Amino acid sequence: MRWEQLPEAENSGVFQGPTSYGDPGFSRFVRSAFLAAAGYDEQDTSRPIIGIGHSISDFSPCHREMPALLDAVKRGVAEAGAVPMAFPTMSLGEVFLNPTSMMFRNLLSLEAEELIRAQPMDAVVLLGGCDKTVPGQLMGAISAGRPALEVVAGPMIAANWRGERIGACTDCRRMWAGHRAEQIGEAEIAEVSTALAPTGGTCMVMGTASTMAVVVEVLGLAIPGSATAPAPSGDRLRVGVRSGRRILEMVEEGLTPDRVLSKASFLNAATVLGAIGGSTNAVIHLLALAGRAGIDLSLTEIGDASAGVPVVVDCRPAGTGFLDDLHNAGGVPALLSEISSRLDLDARTAMGTTLGESLEEVSGAPVWPSALRPVGRPVTSQEGLVVLKGSLAPEGAVIKAGAATPQLLQHRGRAVVFNGTEDMQSRLETADIEPDSVLILRGCGPASAGMPEAGAIPIPKRLAAAGVTDMVRISDGRMSGTAFGTVVLHVTPESAIGPLGLVEDGDLVVLDVPARRLDVLVDEETLAKREATRHALPPQPTRWRRLQAEAITQADLGADLRWP
Ligand code: FES
Repeated sequence: MRWEQLPEAENSGVFQGPTSYGDPGFSRFVRSAFLAAAGYDEQDTSRPIIGIGHSISDFSPCHREMPALLDAVKRGVAEAGAVPMAFPTMSLGEVFLNPTSMMFRNLLSLEAEELIRAQPMDAVVLLGGCDKTVPGQLMGAISAGRPALEVVAGPMIAANWRGERIGACTDCRRMWAGHRAEQIGEAEIAEVSTALAPTGGTCMVMGTASTMAVVVEVLGLAIPGSATAPAPSGDRLRVGVRSGRRILEMVEEGLTPDRVLSKASFLNAATVLGAIGGSTNAVIHLLALAGRAGIDLSLTEIGDASAGVPVVVDCRPAGTGFLDDLHNAGGVPALLSEISSRLDLDARTAMGTTLGESLEEVSGAPVWPSALRPVGRPVTSQEGLVVLKGSLAPEGAVIKAGAATPQLLQHRGRAVVFNGTEDMQSRLETADIEPDSVLILRGCGPASAGMPEAGAIPIPKRLAAAGVTDMVRISDGRMSGTAFGTVVLHVTPESAIGPLGLVEDGDLVVLDVPARRLDVLVDEETLAKREATRHALPPQPTRWRRLQAEAITQADLGADLRWP
């Protein structure tokens, strides 16, 4: 009988993975009945199924152009001869989540993996954009092991305010700092708030969303040229259509993530991270993605790959431009072409070619001035990203040197310590802080607090009003990719278990970025005597947060859930 005979369909199409009723024929029959109710007939159910996981949500305004993008991907899938079936994944809107979106990246990865595994699809296209959606979706897709492509929402187009180009959210921070320093009044800051995010799309500076879009294209999990097309543009819709067409070819080629990803692709991504002055958050996501792919990648290797790479992309916060400028300069393919001598061109791409083959189509050197600089004329003489180690961070820490104050990259100062964000908020304006103090915020690590983006501690108002624009700040948390300043992040181990938890006010702290060092000048014996004063891991308020706190790795392993 028809429902019992579909052995060839067991591993593909909409009848794969039967629901466990104890009767596979009934599973196929009832699945067919519900598909018929949705308007699908036998012609549809005999075709490959492409799942399209999207993250449309009113709580993610940067995804507001995604419905049109979803339609574009569906059109591409249908044109190629497969059936597109959309499904929602968690949507993690960066500025709407308490306490921090990072608390939920791993939850999204679990959800994405299980939905890709459990639902009958031959491959998946994932639509993400806001910071944690892209790594979370891809961590799940890598673990699920089906052919997968990411299609990002695309960046906003830069705003124009009183004749000045501005954008979210580097200028959000710059202007808020000006407001705190009483240089920008109430009426003006209210006006700015309506101008900073003028279109749909992700933040249009080289923040975490843009960085991850670039990184994912370099890894080979998105089609070439897809990272930078602005969200409201026809280019973005064409990326969607092309990705929809390409994913069916990937099914036919059996091009699963493990056949695309390699150590070389991750080291290329780390190199590019330096060249774009990218977000420090990408370091954690790269480590987590590599872990999911079973690729042995260390924080030191990421630091070595990005070391000495000139920042050639002129986007805020390391530079002055925006993502649409980079797109107009040729986007990621043009960037890769410019730094090709530093890349492993044998790495594979989503197109089934090597990176070198994909770059053969890129023509000409970058036209300068543009958002893409020639290697010989970098945006800054500072490196983009540096990994530090030392007595304060035995397993590592990260600083975005390209967005720091050059004079502070070698600095020694007395520590002023805050235990968590509440303590910092309540005492920041009254603590004994001098311009050369080193501000330390701890209790923000993966297991303690899920790594909130609180590492860019505000400059105390008194000092800001006196003209202090930057100080050395150190944390086991993260900072937004759109932020800037001399901020050391992801100190590992976190304070609940590492030496960061033993520092006291007045201890001498030494930051030496050229030497890759971060040290506290207190001997080990003295530190050991302070063990009783350490703040232990706090209790977690929800079931998920407790589960995660028990299973999460430290930042140097990507803050992913331990497995196996
Ligand atoms: Fe979503 Fe910036 S708030 S990318």
